[in-house]
Amino acid sequence: MYLTKRQERMLAGEFGEASSKAMEILVALGKIYGAPRLVRCTSAQISGVSYKNIGDAGADFLWDLAQKGARVRIASYINPAGMDLNRFEEMGLDRKFIEGQNRILQAYRKMGVNLSLTCAPYQIGVEPRLGEHVAWAESSAVIFANSVLGAMTNRESGVSALCSAITGYTPYYGYHLTSNRVATLLVRVDAKLTDPVDYAILGSHIGRVAGERVVAFRGINPTREDLKALGAALASTGAVALFFVEGVTPEWRLSDRPEAVDVGQAELKMEADKLGGSAPSAEVITIGCPHASIQEIGRLARILTNRRLTKPLYVYTSRQVKGQADQLGYTKIIEDAGGKIFCDTCMVVSPIDRMGVSSIEVASAKAAYYSPMMSHVNVRLAPLEKIILEASEAV
Ligand code: F3S
Repeated sequence: MYLTKRQERMLAGEFGEASSKAMEILVALGKIYGAPRLVRCTSAQISGVSYKNIGDAGADFLWDLAQKGARVRIASYINPAGMDLNRFEEMGLDRKFIEGQNRILQAYRKMGVNLSLTCAPYQIGVEPRLGEHVAWAESSAVIFANSVLGAMTNRESGVSALCSAITGYTPYYGYHLTSNRVATLLVRVDAKLTDPVDYAILGSHIGRVAGERVVAFRGINPTREDLKALGAALASTGAVALFFVEGVTPEWRLSDRPEAVDVGQAELKMEADKLGGSAPSAEVITIGCPHASIQEIGRLARILTNRRLTKPLYVYTSRQVKGQADQLGYTKIIEDAGGKIFCDTCMVVSPIDRMGVSSIEVASAKAAYYSPMMSHVNVRLAPLEKIILEASEAV
């Protein structure tokens, strides 16, 4: 693998032990995947933040790196943590969890990482442009960056994204090469998709057959919110990192002989049932997977205007989007109706089961797919408006 003089010096330890270690990991990865060289990247988005997911072993690893002088060289952001940094007491977490989580965050802070704590950095102004190389790890953010923004990233792990943050480079292979950004699975859709959850169900269905392939959709006309839901689901049931929508996404490349799949209402109904679409109503409503956008919170506020919730509602978003919701008056409407907006965390990476919750209602296929496994809760999946109207009354 070709390394520039600067990269060789970094590997040899001239830039410190941590940079050398990070470079060693990236070079090893590059060799595994046949990368001819490294490429500069403009930002890193790092997963592996919640104490629920990485525990003490992960915290020790991050502290060790921070003590060895690791400092990020490019704009670097992190995924949600296991708790809201201001409202953790309301979440019923024990001291060990809070301390463990704080230790992880202190290590990231010491390394100079932006404590963005969101899986949707593109909602807080981090929007790499068409053709820009980045190293992102959160699967829903990766697929959004590649597909909706046209940026170039592989599905990094938390560790490889951190190594890119420390060095400023990522191995040049996979989705960094235009020649690999070609769809080999063509999905022809003939179904009525009217809500982001319909797109999420489509993504969940196709993710199961697509595996790691690039997917091209024909016959749909999604909004940005729909694209976000579609991508997050594709990256959950499958390992999809890039999709195209004809006439919508900035890129559209189809292989000469793609495999074609037709999807209609019947397939979507079957997929919805797998995700809890016919499940009985649940104890708690959780919204915001991926993290809720200001548009989604605005929509929620409009539905809840002059209504009162009959069951708990937790909304998850970034601190910046919550700030916008405060200014626009959405937070007040939602809280007056009995809901809560949590920042920095989500229903999957926080220990929601420790809050005494055993079943949740969601409008997200990703949350519906992961919550039973990761949080041991039963799930009901339905459109946002239906969930909220059923769980509230006019005042
Ligand atoms: Fe984000 Fe949590 Fe869903 S990190 S994509 S809200 S599982």
